[in-house]
Amino acid sequence: MEQLKGLILSGGAGTRLRPITHTSAKQLVPVANKPVLFYGIEALVEAGITEIGIIIAPETGDEIREAAGDGSGFGASITYIEQEAPLGLAHALLMAEAFLGQSPFVMYLGDNLLRNGLVELVATFRESEPEALILLTPVPDASSYGVAELDGDRVVKLVEKPEDPPSDLALVGVYMFGPEIFAAARSIEPSARGELEITDAIDALIEGGKRVEPHIVRGWWKDTGRLEDMLEANRLVLEDLESRSDGELIDSKVEGRVVIEAGAKLERTTVRGPAIIGAGAHISDSYVGPYTAIDRDVIIAGSEIEHSIVLAGSRIRDLPARMEASLLGKGVTVERSLGMPKTLRFLVGDHADIGIP
Ligand code: TTP
Repeated sequence: MEQLKGLILSGGAGTRLRPITHTSAKQLVPVANKPVLFYGIEALVEAGITEIGIIIAPETGDEIREAAGDGSGFGASITYIEQEAPLGLAHALLMAEAFLGQSPFVMYLGDNLLRNGLVELVATFRESEPEALILLTPVPDASSYGVAELDGDRVVKLVEKPEDPPSDLALVGVYMFGPEIFAAARSIEPSARGELEITDAIDALIEGGKRVEPHIVRGWWKDTGRLEDMLEANRLVLEDLESRSDGELIDSKVEGRVVIEAGAKLERTTVRGPAIIGAGAHISDSYVGPYTAIDRDVIIAGSEIEHSIVLAGSRIRDLPARMEASLLGKGVTVERSLGMPKTLRFLVGDHADIGIP
């Protein structure tokens, strides 16, 4: 088989994660202090795939180029491919046809995380060489996903958000294709939402008599397209953390799995893991609870925070209630002014400045 290539889809509109996505690519939001996108790149490299194309949108492409660079930092070579508008996953794939050529490839949605990576999937694909191998995972409510109908080791149909799901197997955002997928993607029409759907392209493969095989994912899979999912992904990744403390602790206590990066400083603070505190963060007279990721140079004073993601350079001071299930963008300030609200809940974009009554 020809050398496999990788295609990561990192364009899109990201409407479900506004306002973060007004100023930043959702694929760069950090999970356990590392951009979501980097997990995808690393998973490809781990599976031996080092020639990687990344689909970018005009609005956020530069930021993604800057973050991932030429790929050498990952042991890969990255080619950026601009998609002028988010016209669908199958449209993105067609944009990459020149880059992919005749090579079989992994298509990976840039906001997805797979706990067990791609090694096993790639081995299965190499072994049976189907025209497409799609990743599936059992879900409790299949009607809100793309769902596969199977017949033995074949996928016979894909249905998008079915009222009456033919199985509980939902499509995960990772696919493996041979070059036949391009003709299939060219043969379809945009769906009701105006996108060229990958499910339609795969259905076209099936109708053309091509072999589409299922691969059931073991271990968790997460699509981080919404706030709840992003927090859940953060929780799952933090649970696998190896404890390490390179920071400075003064009258502070650390319990459970916690990473404290060099240059971070804790004063009169308790951190209960799993949690990560980024380089240069300064936390005083505070409590940082489980499932929290504090990025570089964040300042927290006199506050309690739990199950949240705080991006670089933000400041949190004197909160009158525990902040939880929140995502703060870069350079956000949340400070107490007056009053006694009972809970605080945020989805805040970069450089917002919030005063709490
Ligand atoms: P989605 O999350 O399905 O779409 P989106 O990014 O437009 O987000 P929303 O629904 O909140 O508006 O996309 C999955 C991944 O694929 C994500 O990393 C973005 C990427 N993508 C593209 O690169 N091009 C596209 O045309 C589309 C639709 C998505």
